[in-house]
Amino acid sequence: MKKVTVTASLTYDVIIDNGILDRAGAESAKVIKPCRAAILTDSNVAPLYAERLEKSLKAAGFSPIRFTVKAGEGSKSAESYLSFLNFLAENQITRTDCIFALGGGVVGDLAGFAAATYLRGIRFIQIPTTLLAMVDSSVGGKTAIDIPAGKNLVGAFYQPSLVLCDPKTLDTLSKDIFADGCAEVIKYGIINDKELFKKLKSPINSQIEEIIERCVIDKRDVVNADERDVGVRQLLNLGHTAAHSIEALSHFEVSHGSAVAIGTAIISRAATKLGYCPESDTKQIVNMLESYGLPTNCPYSASELAEVALRDKKRNGDTINLIVPFGIGNSRIHKIPVTDLEGFFAAGL
Ligand code: GLY
Repeated sequence: MKKVTVTASLTYDVIIDNGILDRAGAESAKVIKPCRAAILTDSNVAPLYAERLEKSLKAAGFSPIRFTVKAGEGSKSAESYLSFLNFLAENQITRTDCIFALGGGVVGDLAGFAAATYLRGIRFIQIPTTLLAMVDSSVGGKTAIDIPAGKNLVGAFYQPSLVLCDPKTLDTLSKDIFADGCAEVIKYGIINDKELFKKLKSPINSQIEEIIERCVIDKRDVVNADERDVGVRQLLNLGHTAAHSIEALSHFEVSHGSAVAIGTAIISRAATKLGYCPESDTKQIVNMLESYGLPTNCPYSASELAEVALRDKKRNGDTINLIVPFGIGNSRIHKIPVTDLEGFFAAGL
């Protein structure tokens, strides 16, 4: 068992342990008095893990109810959010109750935003079942839904009370969804963890608990330093400026992890072309992404990417902060005028 403690506006543990899903009730009861437990999950995860979670919650004295959304980014919508809020209200969930997010990033973000806003805030516990959610989205309190104008444009910073990662749940992921999480793992290596990047040269599966712990520690450190994303936390956006454009332009046919891989390859190639990053590091980055089955070539033009990116929340008036690798393990925040963004992307395509 591995435990990482986050000390943001709320202090909470991220526990990583094989089989912890069956002890979720007992672990939750250590931080929250048994109460009504509103589980939000999706149509892929519910048949696999919802009953096990409910059984474990009941054994610890919780009274679970369940709301299932269709699997996929389409459920991070205002419609699903309102339906879930209505479900909570119809079932008379009160401020002393708790929401449980069982699933990947979509479920975690939606459940977290509902928890942040329902009755002006009730507690929630994250039980991520994808690698991406374990190493990134379940930790740090970013919650959001998408609106037609863009991804994650409506949300809140709202920390969970506990995060329980059961690496055994990764066994049922498709190769592509597992690879999505690998893109975020590789990202931590490029940002500021050269040792992690080295470790990823050996197969990830045989060291998965340790890799998850390492990523959670990396994330914890930036969240502790900058919960509200005004400084160092922005480093976690490596590859994400282009990625959000790619996801939107593909109408979410390209998954988040694949888009992050392409975005990371674009920014790394641009960094080399513009003289910031040694060519050998960019080669290693692109090879590493490809060795995990991730795409590195972009089907869209620089002007298409830039147009969508400039509607993103990462823009600050006339400037935008890009995260640029100056080498593996050494990425920096690089402020550029929005008028230079298209040229930056063009250099990396
Ligand atoms: N996923 C990036 C962050 O949590 O800041």
